[in-house]
Formats: sequence, C-alpha cells, structure tokens
Amino acid sequence: MSEPPVGNPAATPPLRQVTLEVNGRRCTGGCEPRMTLLDFLRDTLGLTGTHAGCEHGVCGACTILMEGASVRSCLLFAVQAEGARLQTVEGLGAPGALSDLQAAFKAHHALQCGFCTPGMLLTAEALLNEAMAFEPPQALDEAAVRQAISGNLCRCTGYQPIIAAILDCAASRRAAAQGGHR
Ligand code: FES
Ligand code: FES
Repeated sequence: MSEPPVGNPAATPPLRQVTLEVNGRRCTGGCEPRMTLLDFLRDTLGLTGTHAGCEHGVCGACTILMEGASVRSCLLFAVQAEGARLQTVEGLGAPGALSDLQAAFKAHHALQCGFCTPGMLLTAEALLNEAMAFEPPQALDEAAVRQAISGNLCRCTGYQPIIAAILDCAASRRAAAQGGHR
C-alpha cells in the first residue's frame, strides 16, 4: 500500500488582490502573499524604474517612498503595502522634463551606469522633503547627506557628485521656500 502524499503539489497558491496608489494613480493587481513589493512594482505593474539589486536590504537600489518615508521595496511584501501611497522614480519629473533633483544629478554628473540612481534619487527626495518641512526649511550639510545616502551603494561615482547634486538641489528648494533666489 502506497503512502498518502505529503502536501498538495497540485495546489496553486491563493492570489491576494492588492490595491495601492503609485505616483498618484490607483493601481491594483493579484499576487502571491509572499511576493515582494519590489517584484509587484516591476512584474505586476510594469514599473521597472525601481531596480532589483541585492534583494536582501543591503544595496538600496530598490528604494521607494511609502507614505513619504524611504523604504526598501525588496524587504516588504506587496500585501503589506495594501492601501499605501507610494512614489517611485517614475513619479519624479515627467517625460522630457526632469525634476529639479534629477536635473541636479545631470548637472553634477552624479550617475554613470545609473543602476543606483532610482534608489539614490528617492532616498534624496525623502531627505529633502524632511528638511523642507521645517519652518524655516532646514539647511543640509555634507555630513547630513552622507548619512542619508549611507545605505545606498554606488560602484561608479565615488559619491562626491551625488552629494554635490543633493546639496545643490537642497539649497535651491530652501531658497525657493523662503521666497528668495540663490
Ligand atoms: Fe533592495 Fe538591494 S535590492 S536593498
Ligand atoms: Fe553606477 Fe551608481 S552610477 S552604481
């Protein structure tokens, strides 16, 4: 007499419906409960601007904003983001019109291969938003920028142009918020 099978190899995992807001648009899709938010963005929603690097929370390439805070999308399940408001690199600027931060990266040659760039931009965006939320807006220095991007690895630039770009953008936003010019 043969032994009964262990488990049920024929079973397909139940899909969960996830609905969230990405870059101001309501998005919905089915996913396995164990699917990462990174894979959901890239494979289910087709938003491949968010890069998959180490996929275990080390490199920062997958960084996005969730409710305004920078998070590593490879360390979250898609189901954990149900109902959340997300921003990805596709939400910065517009086709043919770079955001101020993207323009600063371009001006300072703050990217080479570009693999780290989406995560670096979103990490910087969170830092800038936080600084600008103060009244008056907080001035950033190099140490603060280095601290903020310390979890984002870049193998190309040596970081200096990235720091210069973020500081440049921070100064512009601060001046604009105070109604002045640089
Ligand atoms: Fe998420 Fe590296 S891919 S931290
Ligand atoms: Fe290549 Fe940063 S520009 S990893």
